Amino acid sequence: MEFNIAVLGGDGIGPEVTEQGVRSLEAVGRAFGHSFNLNYGDIGGISIDKHGIPLTDETRELLDSNDAVLFGAVGGPKWDSPDAKVRPEMGLLDMRAHMGVFANIRPVKVYSWLAESSVFKPNVINGVDMVVVRELTGGLYYAEPRGRRETPNGIVAEDTMRYTEGEIERVIRVGFELARGRRKKLASVDKANVLECSRLWRTVATRLGEEYPDVELEHVLVDACAMQLIQKPTDYDVIVAENTFGDILSDEASMLAASMGLLPSASLAGVPEAGQRSGGLYEPIHGTAPDIAGKGIANPTGSILSVALMVRYSLGLTEEAAAIERAVDKVLEQNARTADLVIGEDKHVTTSEMGDLVVAAIERGN
Ligand code: IPM
Ligand code: MN
Repeated sequence: MEFNIAVLGGDGIGPEVTEQGVRSLEAVGRAFGHSFNLNYGDIGGISIDKHGIPLTDETRELLDSNDAVLFGAVGGPKWDSPDAKVRPEMGLLDMRAHMGVFANIRPVKVYSWLAESSVFKPNVINGVDMVVVRELTGGLYYAEPRGRRETPNGIVAEDTMRYTEGEIERVIRVGFELARGRRKKLASVDKANVLECSRLWRTVATRLGEEYPDVELEHVLVDACAMQLIQKPTDYDVIVAENTFGDILSDEASMLAASMGLLPSASLAGVPEAGQRSGGLYEPIHGTAPDIAGKGIANPTGSILSVALMVRYSLGLTEEAAAIERAVDKVLEQNARTADLVIGEDKHVTTSEMGDLVVAAIERGN
């Protein structure tokens, strides 16, 4: 089959890791007889530099006209002044809103091969297998009023957290549906002891729970969740949280997997289903890592595994997705370690060497 993919590398290590994601896509294409038309575009800081804005109409058009979007990361010190009028991150937020991808799915899997690379004791992380579902197009990130203004008492800055029932329900439904296909446990995260938005969140979660009697629903306050995630992470199956809480908790959860460089994500406008064909945005959960950008040492695994999610949820290619995941597993088992994963004197592989190994494993059919 033939597919059209938008590729937006962005800033920092974004383009380097995305290149390896693209190579594994092409490898799976060769192995299974598919072709991919890659349509490259600018987003973030690079787009500000070239066009003055972080998301142009041209890139927006790419979002609309392709089967899926593979994205790297945006941002960096160059564009980071607190007084900047345009920011790279605005491009990412606009893209998410434009695509309507309200459910950001971040699977956290612990590879037994990497136990040594983790900061956690093996008995804490052995068997961790969870999915964080983060609400992605609402809440503090988007609601108005927001901004900064001068007042007689000095400068005031404000952000607003607002959610409609509908926005809450559709993302919690994604959580329930995912849990139903897994260990049937859903942790709904909120701060209902303080925030009105969280009280509505809890009400909606409880109500929706009646439609899912087979799924065990637990309400967890976000601060307690942050603690329990490292105290007893194996307890968690699916976590669903509003935008900001989900952002923070998923970075925390990524450390269970040894490095955030390993984790992929899928952002969708509905419930993910293997084999379906509907648009989506796929990106590693890590950022631009300006300190290592251009050195060729970043871990491309998050991007490569994002490609696996992309072919599974947006291109309908279930076997192909599994082939990519198996290849990554094999390569890690055989001790390939990018710099973020090495311990002591071990030699590390570069970004492109990691890509080479995954491509070779896909071609071997591992
Ligand atoms: C992420 C990132 C972004 C976010 C930033 C770059 C705006 O941290 O994708 O998790 O906060 O959503
Ligand atoms: Mn984040």
